[in-house]
Amino acid sequence: MVRSCLDALPKTLPTPMPEVSLRLLTPADSADYRALLHANRAHLTRHGDFTDQVEASTAKIEKALAHLEGRERAYGIRLHDTLVGQVSVIAVAPPRYSLGYWLARTATGQGRASAACAALIASSSTVLGATDMFAGVTHGNDPSVALLRRLGFVPVAEFATYTRFHLALTPPTRRRPHVF
Ligand SMILES: CC(C)(COP(=O)(O)OP(=O)(O)OC[C@H]1O[C@@H](n2cnc3c(N)ncnc32)[C@H](O)[C@@H]1OP(=O)(O)O)[C@@H](O)C(=O)NCCC(=O)NCCS
Repeated sequence: MVRSCLDALPKTLPTPMPEVSLRLLTPADSADYRALLHANRAHLTRHGDFTDQVEASTAKIEKALAHLEGRERAYGIRLHDTLVGQVSVIAVAPPRYSLGYWLARTATGQGRASAACAALIASSSTVLGATDMFAGVTHGNDPSVALLRRLGFVPVAEFATYTRFHLALTPPTRRRPHVF
């Protein structure tokens, strides 16, 4: 396996919500993960995102969750112990990283995705020394924009189909991103 700076991230992470935690996804999660993607097909693809993931074969998902390419770490968002979504950090150009996230439709509306993202951003700052976090949001995805603004992200660039958001992270005295 290719070694990556991302290997320093812990396998599990608590979040500001006691009932929500993160656990690194592995190939053993492939069936549950694919079932959740399929159950949320319309919710995830309504802005044109996640089409490839929803269409991916089990083999392709297993390969992705093995984290063999070393550039991304994907965590399952767990509500109690049940898989309800995913949040990932991508090593774009360390110490600059980007964030990806989705939540099952039935789990939305309770601040859980924000809590999951806040936990991974904080760990990226303290463990990886991330200085900047970016996220791209397809135009019209208002819940995603609201989430990013809640975490302190600001828009920094407009493209034909999406807006790029940015969060500057404070180094090692390490203030957690403000969420609640
Ligand atoms: C984007 C997405 C993750 C946002 O999920 P979400 O649950 O709305 O996000 P949050 O966790 O920030 O929760 C915010 C909601 O919880 C409510 N909430 C309740 N308690 C809260 C708390 N303690 N803290 C924050 N929000 C809280 C907020 O009022 C808000 O409700 P509203 O949508 O009725 O205004 C979700 O819509 C999704 O998965 N979409 C499809 C995939 C996607 O677009 N991913 C992003 C690609 S860029």
